[in-house]
Amino acid sequence: MAGLKLDISNIYPFIPEESILGFQEQVNTQISSLNEKTGAGNDFLGWLDLPSNISEDQINSIEEVAASLREKAEIIVVVGIGGSYLGAKSIISAMSHNFDKFRGGKKDPDVIFAGQNIGEDYLSELIEVLDALSYAIIIISKSGTTTEPAIAFRILKEHLEEKVGPAEASQRIIAITDNSKGALRKLSDQVGYHSFTIPDDVGGRYSVLTPVGLLPIACAGYDIRDFIKGATGLKKQTGQDISFRENPAALYAAARYALYRNGRSIEILANYNEKLIYFSEWWKQLYGESEGKENKGIFPASVNFTADLHSMGQYIQEGERILFETVISVSNPDRHLTIPEDKGNLDQLNYLAGKRINEVNQMAELGTLLAHIDGGVPNMRIEIPAINEYHLGELVYFFEIACGISGYLLEVNPFNQPGVEAYKKNMFALLEKPGFENETRAIQERLNK
Ligand code: PA5
Repeated sequence: MAGLKLDISNIYPFIPEESILGFQEQVNTQISSLNEKTGAGNDFLGWLDLPSNISEDQINSIEEVAASLREKAEIIVVVGIGGSYLGAKSIISAMSHNFDKFRGGKKDPDVIFAGQNIGEDYLSELIEVLDALSYAIIIISKSGTTTEPAIAFRILKEHLEEKVGPAEASQRIIAITDNSKGALRKLSDQVGYHSFTIPDDVGGRYSVLTPVGLLPIACAGYDIRDFIKGATGLKKQTGQDISFRENPAALYAAARYALYRNGRSIEILANYNEKLIYFSEWWKQLYGESEGKENKGIFPASVNFTADLHSMGQYIQEGERILFETVISVSNPDRHLTIPEDKGNLDQLNYLAGKRINEVNQMAELGTLLAHIDGGVPNMRIEIPAINEYHLGELVYFFEIACGISGYLLEVNPFNQPGVEAYKKNMFALLEKPGFENETRAIQERLNK
């Protein structure tokens, strides 16, 4: 299947091709570190082999559980945050009908999310909806101790147990967590929830090809086999045996690194298809949490075009020249719609009559690309033929492996996230969590000053 293509030629007006090729050796060293597991965070490299290692039995058991939840529930609530949320959310959003909730006669249950915020309104409104509908819960937490999903799960579990009784509730709750550690594993084993394991060597944001992503995606009715196949294809395309020039992940990582060293500290991921909005959120987490440490890293931002051409477009065109742009371009939309002829032509759009909407979108994309290059914004383009499970699988693996290489080029550990502890420590101190007595005293003194 013709698949993902990367074009970095529109950074050459800013960074000559030879400079990118000059990073070949460094990039190849980092690819070897990943594959030979000799670099920082090498106990978290299980994701590299996920697409090829997943067994038929594992896929079957995910599909069976998904089928049984789909049978029982009108709504499946996936509870999780960060890497236990964004992968599934991004793929389901990309695959879903834009106006799903207005479609009559829909057979698939809705897969919705909770535990990705601390929202009193969010949870109360969710409960209001769940009061009237049959539902199931997939609780996902690798550590099993993350506050946001733990709060949401406590509330939803109690609600479901009251609604259908504890025995039936335990049939409708699926846990995805560590094999042996954490509160969720303990609870799951005690109550007897059906559970899946997140491999020890796979961190949250690299876990979309484990049950963390696969079960919710299958519950939403999408083909996880094709998703895995797409990732497998990209794994081959980015293998150690592929030359630097032929390896899209190597080129993307080298280009980003070269741009960063030239003062481009913000990367904007742009899409021209609303369905990819959450894919950008997943990408931001992957790169932000992997690279942003030790006072280093490219800040990942995102825009949705053409909507944001009427807002952020101004800054991109003429603001500080610290940006570069990476566009995800989808060649073929699923649907076909042409612009009609209008007798009056008051809107003066007859010059477009008979053209597909996508033709106009493509010209908006090309026009923007040229304008941004003229405005001093280096541009990379990732093209996929269509939004489907296969090409989303390719995108996921492409960005994951490029992120591993990028992190190593920056000389950071791309597989940890020490910075996310700082807010937690303060929040626990403010909430007077047992064990945080000293922090509570210190923070109160600080606030009373
Ligand atoms: O990438 C990561 O490791 C994090 O974003 C985690 O996924 C996130 O903090 C949620 O953690 P957990 O699955 O342990 O609840």
